Amino acid sequence: MGSDGERQMKLRLPTAHLLLCGPVPNRPQTVAFDFSLVLRPAWMPSASRSLNPYIVCFVVVSVVVLLAVTTALLVYFLAFDQKYYFYRSSFQILNVQHSDELNSPVTQKYRTLSARIESMITRTFKESNLRKQFIKVHVVRLRLSGSDMIADTVMKFKFTRNNNGPSLKRRIESVLRQMLNNSENLVMKPPTELTEITDQDTEDILTQECGIRQGLITLSDERIIGGTKAKEGDWPWQVSLQWSNHHYCGGVLISNRWILTAAHCFTRHSDTLLWTVTFGISTTSPKERRRIRTILIHNNYKPETHENDIALLHLDREVTFNRNIHVVCLPEASQNIPPGSTAYVTGWGSQSYTGSTVTHLEQARVNIISNNVCNAPSSYNGAILPGMLCAGLSQGGVDACQGDSGGPLVQEDARHLWFLTGIVSWGYQCGLPDKPGVYTLVTAYRDWIHQHTGI
Ligand code: ARG
Repeated sequence: MGSDGERQMKLRLPTAHLLLCGPVPNRPQTVAFDFSLVLRPAWMPSASRSLNPYIVCFVVVSVVVLLAVTTALLVYFLAFDQKYYFYRSSFQILNVQHSDELNSPVTQKYRTLSARIESMITRTFKESNLRKQFIKVHVVRLRLSGSDMIADTVMKFKFTRNNNGPSLKRRIESVLRQMLNNSENLVMKPPTELTEITDQDTEDILTQECGIRQGLITLSDERIIGGTKAKEGDWPWQVSLQWSNHHYCGGVLISNRWILTAAHCFTRHSDTLLWTVTFGISTTSPKERRRIRTILIHNNYKPETHENDIALLHLDREVTFNRNIHVVCLPEASQNIPPGSTAYVTGWGSQSYTGSTVTHLEQARVNIISNNVCNAPSSYNGAILPGMLCAGLSQGGVDACQGDSGGPLVQEDARHLWFLTGIVSWGYQCGLPDKPGVYTLVTAYRDWIHQHTGI
């Protein structure tokens, strides 16, 4: 030690020990001593270094781990990672006569036909070799082209990434060709075109339709409603009517210029200039605001009996639909609302009769109650008139309350589209047993709405 020749003695270790990642046990070790360390300033790197077994071991292990991870990721992406693909396509329906009822998406005929087309396409894919890849089909629109009935659809598939676009398209097209040959009661012609579209295109197409909620926008096969707090986009037709910048009533978006609400919201405040309409689940940081140009209150609104508690608001400017702001479906005047069916009421109203309103949108699940039951002596004792509808739970506890007025009571149909059944109107306090919420029955005012808005 001490001579120049010994300055940089390397630690010589058998490779087996290197892999064990530790010093060599019980073996005379020659300890490296780098004399240059003594002679050079601290900031200067040493010219050469002895091979530290820990570092060698670390490098080897790192390389092995890195290789394993890369292989695993590659296998995963090629074989398991799935990507969603959206397609747009139009089917020609051969054995259905066009009629006026097929002009409006909310008529029973339109809805039944759309449902039949969807279930036929679904069944075809479920019985094909694409059963695992097919997620959903939705009829966006039924229309007439010349004398042909056309169904515009969007479809969603799930494929692993190693599949490439053109071959997917060919596989889907070939399944569709087979189906349409062996259909029973619905005769459809195979689509001449199948166009791949982006997620954004799908969203843009679907948000132009009424009654679409979050899940359907992405054509998701699952749907969740949980808790009482709504998430952004859960009830995209819900608006807040604010008087002097304070939430006062709820309202419902029925077109890009019209809001449907309750007449009683304007008995004390009828000056259009002091009202604003806000969009989005928060009343304090809304997604969008509009002013009101006209307030149109039902001519026969009677505050004493709450009869005809309905009003329309014409906005100063159109709103642009997106996934968080778009319209609810209006029911047909003849639509039947079965007692016992489920409905949802939403709003920023108080959570107890004397409480104050909230700033985050709340949702509650209730059941439709027949007017007969609701008019029982122990309940509203005859105060429920034909243009009204009751909803709640017989044991109470779930209800709309002060500040929810004018807001929506909605129901979901078989195709997962949401319809406006009622408008929050009145009730004896909130959530008491046998005192459910009372709503303006929208079907009873369907023609009135059409007369004033053309919708
Ligand atoms: N009139 C109340 C309002 O202006 C709504 C009352 C609803 N009450 C009920 N129990 N559902 O906000």
